[in-house]
Amino acid sequence: MQYISDLAVYTYGSPEKKPIVFVHGFPLSAAMWKYQVTALQEDFYCVTYDIRGLGNSSAGHGQFTLESMVDDLELVIQSLHIHKPVICGLSMGGYICLRAAERNPELFGGFIFCDTKSAADNDETKIKRANAVKRINRGEAVQYINEFIPTTIYAENKARIYAENENELNQWLMNDPVGVKGCLIAMAARTDTTQALKNIPVPALFICGEEDSLSTPEVMKTMADNSPGSRFALIKKAGHLSPLEMPNEVNMEIKNYLDTI
Ligand code: MLT
Repeated sequence: MQYISDLAVYTYGSPEKKPIVFVHGFPLSAAMWKYQVTALQEDFYCVTYDIRGLGNSSAGHGQFTLESMVDDLELVIQSLHIHKPVICGLSMGGYICLRAAERNPELFGGFIFCDTKSAADNDETKIKRANAVKRINRGEAVQYINEFIPTTIYAENKARIYAENENELNQWLMNDPVGVKGCLIAMAARTDTTQALKNIPVPALFICGEEDSLSTPEVMKTMADNSPGSRFALIKKAGHLSPLEMPNEVNMEIKNYLDTI
């Protein structure tokens, strides 16, 4: 692990290989990509990092926006001298990759969007996030995270995911409350990136768990339909955390995609 401007960055495999940068979801850490880096590091240069305020990346002032999150992604790529990486983001990580694609499409060689959406928050979701911030301010961060994470996993996978990821789940429960709040407010204030989909300069891959109730297959299929030449991959028996829930199926999709671009 190395630090780049207080961001904890992890690299796997040879920098000579085709690069892929993974951007994790909320309120997790880079560790959610463990099955992908294991499967891909022999053939690809895999980079993960903890989003500022989560995992081993300190929260600092704790005031984040989607724009500052895209700045961080670009900083990691520039600091590691990576040329045109494929970026792969899940949910909040997908929001970051979508906005990165809109801001500077020429920086990237490919795009993988997992269990995410391009629409901005509606009022109901903004209020939900405001209530989560209030709860965390009352000292209930651990309870909030402990209740939130299970809502993202398909019911049939929960026991297995909890058994297989004890260390990761413990890390996620201990995420800095300041960082968690910073992410909630950044997500609530993010822009709508739907219009960016049609301008993505290379065919993209959209991956969605069939049982994802937060970024549903209908929503993601529409995103893929609006993005020229892209592929929509539905992952059976997976919820919102498809790369963690059904890694073999997701890895196969990612590998096939990386081989075509
Ligand atoms: C995530 O998985 O990153 C979150 O569910 C995103 C969100 O709360 O919008």
